[in-house]
Amino acid sequence: MSSSVLCLLITIIFSLPRVRGISPQVFNIVSNATCLEPDYTWMNNTEHQSPCLAVAYVIAACDGDTWTQPALPPGYSYDSPNGTTATPCYCSWSCYNLMMACTLCQSPAYASDLKTWPSFSQNCPSNYKDEVFPQGYVLANNASSIPYWATIDPTTWPSELFDITQAESYANQSKSTFLHLLPNPLICPQAIPTTFPPI
Ligand SMILES: *[C@@H]1O[C@H](CO)[C@@H](O)[C@H](O)[C@H]1NC(C)=O
Ligand SMILES: *[C@@H]1O[C@H](CO)[C@@H](O)[C@H](O)[C@H]1NC(C)=O
Ligand SMILES: *[C@@H]1O[C@H](CO)[C@@H](O)[C@H](O)[C@H]1NC(C)=O
Ligand SMILES: *[C@@H]1O[C@H](CO)[C@@H](O)[C@H](O)[C@H]1NC(C)=O
Ligand SMILES: *[C@@H]1O[C@H](CO)[C@@H](O)[C@H](O)[C@H]1NC(C)=O
Repeated sequence: MSSSVLCLLITIIFSLPRVRGISPQVFNIVSNATCLEPDYTWMNNTEHQSPCLAVAYVIAACDGDTWTQPALPPGYSYDSPNGTTATPCYCSWSCYNLMMACTLCQSPAYASDLKTWPSFSQNCPSNYKDEVFPQGYVLANNASSIPYWATIDPTTWPSELFDITQAESYANQSKSTFLHLLPNPLICPQAIPTTFPPI
């Protein structure tokens, strides 16, 4: 079987649940946190979503496409994953980076509410802690994306603490966005044949 036919078959197999679920998807992903404009606008993803809404999409991908990322009151910090909330999404690099950005963008005074990566991820199983975003999951409805600066391995930030200056410098370099469109690790050719060639 040629690789393009294999690709087509796999693409079809992976699209089946989407075809069956064609009725409007029930999802509820929100954040009422407000990022200060224009200082933190560079944190927005290509869908013009704040890091607070983007992190809600990341966590929701493992949580039935439902997540509310609340505004942070002074003196609080966002919960780290714990025994009941640790999922491969919540424990991912992009979740940590977006969560810290979401903290900072609400007030520069919240810098003291940041957590280091070892602190944030202490309740995560080790196999959840080595990915930008877990394989096999997608951001709901393809309606969000992860900015490049949020894909950085947090162990490489100075002292393993989200570094806003480095992140902004990545954002300034307009590096490409990280998209998770298909739960399909196979790289398919651009043009997928619409009819089956003879095998
Ligand atoms: C955000 O929503 C929460 C819960 O829904 C509410 O308690 C809080 O007051 C809201 N904050 C803002 C800034 O709207
Ligand atoms: C950035 O995100 C905020 C919050 O979602 C939105 O109000 C604002 O319009 C966005 N700005 C840009 C330039 O994307
Ligand atoms: C885990 O965190 C959630 C909120 O993020 C909290 O409601 C729950 O009680 C915590 N569970 C444990 C076991 O600490
Ligand atoms: C997902 O969105 C991107 C841009 O936001 C678009 O290029 C792509 O075609 C979309 N993919 C699907 C499967 O809808
Ligand atoms: C990113 O670009 C903005 C606008 O040009 C500039 O003000 C800012 O200092 C730059 N930040 C970094 C970290 O390079």
